[in-house]
Amino acid sequence: MNIHGLPSAPSSPGEGEAGETGLPALLGSTPRGVAARSLIGQLRHHHAPTAAHCARVARVLMRMWARAPDQLGDPETLLIAGALHDIGKLFVPASTLGSDRALDEDGLATIRRHPETGAEVLRSLGFPPVVVAAARDHHERWQGGGYPVGGHSEDLHVVARATAVADAYVAMVEPGRAYRTPLTDGAALAELRACRGTHFDPVLADILLVELAERAAAGLALI
Ligand SMILES: [Fe+2]
Repeated sequence: MNIHGLPSAPSSPGEGEAGETGLPALLGSTPRGVAARSLIGQLRHHHAPTAAHCARVARVLMRMWARAPDQLGDPETLLIAGALHDIGKLFVPASTLGSDRALDEDGLATIRRHPETGAEVLRSLGFPPVVVAAARDHHERWQGGGYPVGGHSEDLHVVARATAVADAYVAMVEPGRAYRTPLTDGAALAELRACRGTHFDPVLADILLVELAERAAAGLALI
């Protein structure tokens, strides 16, 4: 796996294969990689911007892995966990995912089921417990207040905590969200700093912050 040679994403979901540049090849041809690619294909068909989001999160996680391989474990598992973290959104109507206005309570409740739905799907397909955990727990917060459980996330798997940081960062800066403008890189950095230790595992947030700072100094975007 060419962890260090990750290509940059296109600048909008309409380019390339919905922003998924490089991900299909990175997933490889192991049975798990093939299964992951198939699921991403279904997600792309259902709602392409969500598939592009998953690819961006997977790429950010690979950058984090390159900085902390001992903490983040097997890179293939991490890549698949990132690529499939939102697979539960296959069961959220595309009209809800693509809504250009704030969702009502029913819409929010539907969205908030995607971690558990995704975990069930991945468990039933035989994905490793770490991949299941990342899908289930990526909206939990370090000091509590996330979902679906809302407790402290300190005891959750490190891959789930890393996915939470990467997911939040990508959601702040990526294009293609009709109801809000992406944050600038500087504003996203400030938000990550402000939420390290509250929303995010501070050690993992710092890994991403260092990566972002170095890439910004070199004039490179992360996604
Ligand atoms: Fe999610």
